[in-house]
Parts: sequence; C-alpha cells; structure tokens
Amino acid sequence: MTTSMVRDLNLKARGKKKIDWVSNHLPVLNLIGSDKRYTRALEGKRIGIALHLEAKTAYLAMILQRAGAEVSIAGSNPLSTQDDVAAALASEGVKVYAWYGATPEEYHSFLNKIVDDKPQLILDDGGDLVSLLHQERREALGDILGGSEETTTGVIRLRAMEADGVLEFPMLAVNDAYSKYLFDNRYGTGQSTWDAIMRNTNLVVSGKTAVIVGYGWCGKGVAMRAKGLGADVIVTEVDPIRANEALMDGFRVMPLVDAARQGDFFVTVTGNKYAIRKEHFLAMKDKAILANAGHFDVEIAKPDLDSLSVEQKEVRPNITEYTLTDGRRIYLLAEGRLVNLAAGDGHPAEIMDLSFASQVLALNHVAQHYQELGKRVVNLPVELDRMVLAMRLEALGIKIDSLTEDQVRYLKSWQV
Ligand code: ADE
Repeated sequence: MTTSMVRDLNLKARGKKKIDWVSNHLPVLNLIGSDKRYTRALEGKRIGIALHLEAKTAYLAMILQRAGAEVSIAGSNPLSTQDDVAAALASEGVKVYAWYGATPEEYHSFLNKIVDDKPQLILDDGGDLVSLLHQERREALGDILGGSEETTTGVIRLRAMEADGVLEFPMLAVNDAYSKYLFDNRYGTGQSTWDAIMRNTNLVVSGKTAVIVGYGWCGKGVAMRAKGLGADVIVTEVDPIRANEALMDGFRVMPLVDAARQGDFFVTVTGNKYAIRKEHFLAMKDKAILANAGHFDVEIAKPDLDSLSVEQKEVRPNITEYTLTDGRRIYLLAEGRLVNLAAGDGHPAEIMDLSFASQVLALNHVAQHYQELGKRVVNLPVELDRMVLAMRLEALGIKIDSLTEDQVRYLKSWQV
C-alpha cells in the first residue's frame, strides 16, 4: 500500500526508464550501496529526504531502501520534481510526496509529510527540511539522530543555526567534501547549467558575451564551460580573492552594472538575494537572457523585473519575456529557479555518483556516531571522502602511482 502523493502514477513506465538509464552510470553509488560495510547502520532506520526528485535522486532513494532503510522523500524545489520519476519511485514502495509545479502551500505540506513519517535521519538539500523541523515541528526533533546536507546554501544556513546555538542534531556537510564540491559544484553545475540554457533557448553561445555573477565553485564551472562553448566571458564578484582568481583564469572582471551593458547571457551563482536587480535590468541590451543556477529563486530580483515591465508572457516553455517600457525585452528562464533542475535533468549521472555515494557514507556515519558528533555541522571524514574518489578511479579503470617508503619518510622528516 502506498501513501505517496504524486501527480500521476500512470507515468511510471517512462520514469522507470529514466531511473534504469542513470543506474548504469552510477558505479560508485552501486558499489557502496550494495556493501553492508558502508550501509549496516542504515538498516531499519527511517530516512526523510528533501532532494531534487529526478532520476539520480530516485535511484539513491532505492539504494537506501535496498540497504534496509524506510525512505520518505519530498522535492527540494517546487519545479525540480519530474512527475514520471516520482511515479516510478512511488511504485517501488518509497513514500513520495512531490510533484512538479507544487504551490508554496503544497511544497510546505510535502515537507511536513516527511516529518509525519517520523524520520530518524535527514537528507536535506538547501536546508528547508531542517529549518521546518526546528521552527514548526519541534515535537519531531526527539526522533532525529542527525543528517546530511547536500548543497552550499544549506550548509550556510546550518552554520548560521550552529552559530546561533539552535542546531539540535549533528549535520554532515556533504557539500564541503572534496568528492562533492570539486566535482558536483564545478563540473556538474558548469555542464548542466549550459545544457539547460541551450536546450530551452535553442540559441548559440559561441561568439556571445556570457556574464557569470559569482565565482565560487559553481561560478567557476559555469564560466569555464561558457569559455569552452566559445563565449566571451565576464565574471562579476564582490570578493577580491575570487575576483583575482577569475582574472588569472583568463576572464574579464568588472562591476555588474558595466557588464550588464555587454551581456547576452547572464547566469547568477552567488547564493545571495537580488544579485541582478533594477539598475542592471535598466542597462541591459534588448533580448538579454537571464538564468539562475543558485539554490533559491532570489538571485534575480523578479519584483524589480515586474515593476519595470509593461508586459510579461511565456514565449517558449521555461522562457518568460519581460517587455520594458522602452520596448527592450528581457528573457528569464525557469522563473528564476535553478535552471539546471527546473528546466533540465540536473547534473550528469557520473557527477551525482560521487555526491550520492558520499551521501550514503555520510548517513551511515551519522547513524553510527551521532552521539559523539554533537549538535554541530561536521565534515565527512576525509578517509571516506578519499575512498569515494579512489573507488571512482577504480571503476573507470584508471590507476595512479603511490609513494615509495623513502618518499613517505622524506615527507615526515624535518631535520636538515
Ligand atoms: N540532482 C539531484 N540533486 C541535484 C543537485 N543538488 N544538483 C544537481 N543535480 C541534482
């Protein structure tokens, strides 16, 4: 008997095909998920997940279920759930509360459903589930052993909770693992963001100017791939360290108000609100295209776009045209929600392989060690992090060298 809430169970056959496809490209997750050494502590545990519900995520939920956990899942964004995948997952016996285009009330009620299932472990992406537990569902805190967080924005929120002394259980910052941010944030966001922009606009990138707003790990990836596609890339930053990095990586660096005049494509990856706002819209060229690749839909100031425009209409799926008073048109992709998931399939499977393998290890680690970990934000133990990356090389058949004993001794010596 399923208690799931999905859009249409009849979509399950198409969803199953999507899940089957990615399952063949997740070798590390498959190895870790099927080895009791890495999942034993998950047996019999109730796990509540809030993640972007697309095929790789569904497969992760199935892996956790096969490891003996009871899994409930909601989406972590109202536009990133794929209804066919949700249907397929629900028919596997996982409790699914998610559909594409959830209203704010529905989104909130789906997260509440996860809490109703009395989770002991939490897997969050962006911090909404943890925030709900601490603010509105405190009666459920007693069951929670701890959890893990997937993304930069979520880790920032968790650290703010820790600093305020309000975090009630240990949370592993999977985002901060090498096996996560160096690959998922950089190469995953880089590829999937341009994939979504290109498949939705059907426009050329080469020869155009791409303005990347923010040069963290995600911004680095988006800028790198824009360059690879032949764009002239401008990076805008507020941090002198990152601005210097962008410069040394070969990009033009300038204030956004100046870049606004030149850009054909704008991608926000700041994690902050209103990175692109009124003064920037006023400077943009006709037909500028705007996309956000950060977690929340606050990076592009939609209220400013609304107040500056005389007309708004959907001109293609996932593209809203805003016509300004002087006739210039600005195109916003995916309502300013994270474009790679709201208008794409998320990161490539081989990238999520690393992130989700680390997630399984993180949850297992929390289930084993929650008492010692305390009410803190903690890192994935580095030996687990390195193990994931070593397993990936092994899965790819790539061998690397190892230090000789003499070299090990040399590195440990300090006398002349
Ligand atoms: N697929 C599932 N979760 C994802 C995430 N956080 N980013 C990109 N793709 C994903």
